[in-house]
Amino acid sequence: MTIELSGRAAHFDEMRQRAERDMAEIGVDAAFIDTLVETFYRRIQAHPTLGPVFDARLAGRWPEHMDKMKRFWSAIAFKNGAYGGKPVQAHLGVQNMTPELFPQWLELFSQTLTEIAPGKAAHDWFMATAERIAKSLTLSLFYNPALDDPARKTM
Ligand code: HEM
Repeated sequence: MTIELSGRAAHFDEMRQRAERDMAEIGVDAAFIDTLVETFYRRIQAHPTLGPVFDARLAGRWPEHMDKMKRFWSAIAFKNGAYGGKPVQAHLGVQNMTPELFPQWLELFSQTLTEIAPGKAAHDWFMATAERIAKSLTLSLFYNPALDDPARKTM
């Protein structure tokens, strides 16, 4: 038992070390994640369509949200377990959330990365990761299997 646990701990430690090396190779460290989150969500707040949707939910709670998003990206980049929330549930209660907002979110994220990421590899890594999550969130929030019913298509 002890041997198995220490084996698992060693495995996680190895995964973490590899993630940190991979991120270091593309110039990503904890300081960059802080800057990215702060810059991106300042732009979100100023965005004509995204801003009001976020602000309706987060007014008075922005510092807490920024902190959570730093832990979220840190957990993905460094595999350090810094975030343990439930993103799908968190988005379920967001008023005026529509599928059309996701491409706008991704566009703003890409523009921000183009300006501040340490290089193209870092830009591409964050974008590929965000696109995967955006797709999965969109499916969880909006996919309705009934709309794929072949019977409906003939109508
Ligand atoms: C148009 C698209 C989006 C909108 C309008 C949106 C809006 C929001 C809002 C208002 C919250 C705060 C919920 C609360 O604390 O009450 C939130 C939380 C969060 N969002 Fe988004 N979001 C969008 C896309 C994304 C994407 C693409 C990602 C990931 C790449 C993401 C990751 C998260 C995470 C991790 C949280 C924290 C969940 C928690 O409480 O643990 N969101 N989002």
